[in-house]
Amino acid sequence: MEMSLTFLVLTITFALQLNLASLAEGRAFFVFGDSLVDSGNNDFLATTARADSPPYGIDFPSHRATGRFSNGFNMADLISLSIGSEPALPYLNPALKGERLLIGANFASAGVGILNDTGFQFVNIIHIYKQLKFFHDYQWRLSKLIGKEQAKQLVNSALVLITLGGNDFVNNYYLVPFSLRSRQFRLPDYVTYLISEYRKILQRLHDMGARRVLVTGTGPMGCVPAELAQHSANGECWPQLQLAASLFNSQLVQMLSSLNRDLGSDVFLAANVNDMHMDFVSNPRAYGFVTSKIACCGQGPYNGLGLCTPASSLCSTRDTYVFWDNFHPSERATKIIVQRILTGSSKYMKPMNLSTVMAIDSSKV
Ligand SMILES: *[C@@H]1O[C@H](CO)[C@@H](O)[C@H](O)[C@H]1NC(C)=O
Ligand SMILES: *[C@@H]1O[C@H](CO)[C@@H](O)[C@H](O)[C@H]1NC(C)=O
Repeated sequence: MEMSLTFLVLTITFALQLNLASLAEGRAFFVFGDSLVDSGNNDFLATTARADSPPYGIDFPSHRATGRFSNGFNMADLISLSIGSEPALPYLNPALKGERLLIGANFASAGVGILNDTGFQFVNIIHIYKQLKFFHDYQWRLSKLIGKEQAKQLVNSALVLITLGGNDFVNNYYLVPFSLRSRQFRLPDYVTYLISEYRKILQRLHDMGARRVLVTGTGPMGCVPAELAQHSANGECWPQLQLAASLFNSQLVQMLSSLNRDLGSDVFLAANVNDMHMDFVSNPRAYGFVTSKIACCGQGPYNGLGLCTPASSLCSTRDTYVFWDNFHPSERATKIIVQRILTGSSKYMKPMNLSTVMAIDSSKV
């Protein structure tokens, strides 16, 4: 009797572990940051920063708006698919429980930035320190499911993506003329401040167990349809925001390499999304785009004013537009960016591209 009970327990434990192992076969994936990678957390919040009505999601497998700021998949989805993982669910989605925790989680929230005051106008968003707090809670729940050691290992071997910085400019420093932050700091000093605050956030992620973190810089913020609509007579990018992007991105690369040096390991990978994106802005036709200036969905000059809504003018061939709405790239532009993250040269990826990292990490097991 005693023996058969032990046997039964062992069998159940074994079956459970097998099941868990097969689910966790792909590497776990954790996502932090803003609307470029939010997969629907803001749907669960009372905020104005949301993408939960059509035509958002028109090219998504379900053809429904999910909260992604894209016509289809966003960057987080495309990266998880390309590393053989299932897209992680938004942390606030009630379906994220039980064995689904093993896939990872997406903590990103549209509108947030590096600074706590960025995005205050959207009222209820998950600021980055709150995202880290949720990551802590997640790890506690994961430990209850698979044990403390296993949970630690899952987090250590996961891939992490973080995308921050754009909103600290467009939704803070340059939100209104004479903003609080622009009266407090000259642009170069603001960038230095942002980078030093970002360093603390990344250090914290490492302290919480992240060991491979893909960090994307900002895109060419001065070239997005929203900025063209406000600042451009002839379609030229707004120099002020272009300067901000170039200062921020170059200091970000330096900060990441200094962090890696301090940690004695290539934990942080810098993705130069600005240069990836500038390739289409300078020569859209070479990539099969008809325009890099006009958004597919919107209204006004360059389709760059206001939100993308059911009442907006909508292009018919989404794949030929670099921009889906006035700030966010189309799914097809995002696919090209993700391809560069995977296999790009050192012009785009420092110290190495993601496929190299995946090969190194899988050979360590
Ligand atoms: C932002 O908020 C977090 C948590 O509330 C705090 O730890 C951090 O110091 C704040 N950052 C700044 C720059 O005030
Ligand atoms: C990816 O990075 C590796 C290592 O830097 C490099 O050898 C390889 O050529 C890169 N892939 C491409 C397609 O450039």
